[in-house]
Amino acid sequence: MLTTLFRNAAIYTPVDEGKPLAGKLQGQVRSWEKGALLCDKGVIMAVGPEEEVLSKAKELDIDMEIDCQGACMIPGFVDPHTHICFAERREKEFSMRLAGASYLDILKAGGGILSSVRAVRNASEEELLATTLDNVLTALSFGTTSMEIKSGYGLDTETELKMLRVIDRIGKETPLDVVPTFMGAHAIPEEYKSDPEAFVKLLIEEMIPAAADQNIAQFCDVFCEEGVFSVEQSRKILLAAKEHGFKLRIHADEVHDLGGAGLAAELRTTSAEHLLAASEENLKAMAESGVIANLLPATAYSLKKPYAKARKMIELGVPVALATDCNPGSSYTESMPFVFGLAVMNMNLTVEEALVASTLNAAWSIGLNHKVGSLEVGKQADFLLLDGETPAILAYHAGVSPVMEVYKKGIHVA
Ligand code: NIG
Ligand code: FE
Repeated sequence: MLTTLFRNAAIYTPVDEGKPLAGKLQGQVRSWEKGALLCDKGVIMAVGPEEEVLSKAKELDIDMEIDCQGACMIPGFVDPHTHICFAERREKEFSMRLAGASYLDILKAGGGILSSVRAVRNASEEELLATTLDNVLTALSFGTTSMEIKSGYGLDTETELKMLRVIDRIGKETPLDVVPTFMGAHAIPEEYKSDPEAFVKLLIEEMIPAAADQNIAQFCDVFCEEGVFSVEQSRKILLAAKEHGFKLRIHADEVHDLGGAGLAAELRTTSAEHLLAASEENLKAMAESGVIANLLPATAYSLKKPYAKARKMIELGVPVALATDCNPGSSYTESMPFVFGLAVMNMNLTVEEALVASTLNAAWSIGLNHKVGSLEVGKQADFLLLDGETPAILAYHAGVSPVMEVYKKGIHVA
């Protein structure tokens, strides 16, 4: 299919201003009640009021015309933070948490991330591909057309590289744009429990160089948290990764305020993740350094923690993005509509702010802003048709997916 015209849609899209949208611009959305979108070979040629797009379309040979019957059209979701490559669920641990055990206590006792490490080490590459594919295709059916995926359930060189190969294949074998992240610093593996510094050394001297040689991962991420990696260790790991050409991001202040957000500002990482416990001072520093806050409300929901202070971040001028954090422990969901609803209802983002956060700002936070995240001429025709009149349907029609149709590069994929 070459040139396709989508007409009769209520279009809502952020507007790319050449940088992530922050502060008053966080909710900057353009809309056309009766809009149209014209795409050629997967790229947007025109988008706007139907009449204008139709007159542009007259100059071209249209191969196909689709009447969207007034449905709401938004950009495909960009999910900029996932651990969706895993081998087994951890349903028993969820019940333990419901009965009062804490997430970090389960990890300390050798469960949590370390359960997932055992499962991934034991899985063959094909088995891991099969479970990951299943998860990713669920995400696609809920409207995610681009996604970041982290390694981090290997914690040894061989298994981390295996995970990254699987993540690479997901990008090649599905319609999604996939951005791989190396996260060998996700936990201290059992075999280094008594000597965490030796694991930091292994990361710096062996694992990061090996991941750089493999040339799949674009970002390096670290879990900076009490009992995991300290600020000092995280700094060392991230600086080593930077030297090897990785872009940086960091799990910061998810449970305790260690100062991970301050480190993100100091190193000018592309994003800082979670931030449930981040201090106002460090959030200010993030705003000054232009670090994007990747907020993960489904994690706060699943851990029963207070939500990140999204309104404060917007007030301070920190650009906010939204992600699922999809993983078998702290946030088991592939659904961006669920995350969107939580952000609007429990973090008090406006619908427009949540739309920017889950599309354009999310694209910036994984370096895909040049081709996805908004419906504009020259970007990929990645969009969703919703069963509603405005994007508010994503928060309003709770617990179901209002995503009716998913298009990637102008092609119907789900
Ligand atoms: O972002 N916090 C660290 N990593 C994940 C959880 C991973 C897991 O529990 O398997 C997170 O919440
Ligand atoms: Fe995470």
